[in-house]
Amino acid sequence: MLLAPSILSANFLHLAKDIEMINRSEADWLHLDIMDGVFVPNISIGLPLIEQLAAIINKPMDSHLMIVEPQKFISQFRDFGTYMLTVHYETCTHLHRVVAQIKEAGMKAGVALNPHTPVELLTDILPDIDMVLIMSVNPGFGGQSFLPQALNKVSRLKTMIQAQGLSTLIEVDGGINLQTGQAMADAGVDVLVAGNAILKAENPLETIRQLKRITAGIL
Ligand code: DX5
Ligand code: ZN
Repeated sequence: MLLAPSILSANFLHLAKDIEMINRSEADWLHLDIMDGVFVPNISIGLPLIEQLAAIINKPMDSHLMIVEPQKFISQFRDFGTYMLTVHYETCTHLHRVVAQIKEAGMKAGVALNPHTPVELLTDILPDIDMVLIMSVNPGFGGQSFLPQALNKVSRLKTMIQAQGLSTLIEVDGGINLQTGQAMADAGVDVLVAGNAILKAENPLETIRQLKRITAGIL
């Protein structure tokens, strides 16, 4: 089980400090949320800042593109050293082609689903992708409440992955804390994203440790 802190809830005036904290922590990946104000009603960070952040991040970068036409930016994210590049199902008319382009660029390919998008729509593309990101909030903002229907989606997706004999990872993003993280671990999630729960905690390093213990099934 992997943990990917999201820096969306960080203090953007002290981003380097939070990244260094995550670098020192037990977290597995660093989750970057990219928003365009079109696909989602918010704008987060852009390419010049990501380039500078990438230079100091020493964890695999898990980049979540909440933007229209994500295929335009594949080479930039590859150049930044992204490990996993995730695009939204809802933004890609030609998803199969975009996934192939991400893999040809040398990255792992993830596909994210908004809360209303059924997992069954991925049946035919599942063998081609490395990860499915189940959104457990409507994308666009940190600090929102977990939508419980994500649990059933994860269970259905797990069944689909096993039925096809695949090892596709399942990541969940939105409203994850110690309680919802445990429920997600029980449902079969492989990667937990957590923003507010970590960055707004009194002791983020300790919260990361606790979330890692949940994901390892120790709690
Ligand atoms: C939401 C982003 C999330 C966000 C999660 O659109 O994709 O990654 O940072 O934040 P929390 O954990 O606070 O819900
Ligand atoms: Zn995200």
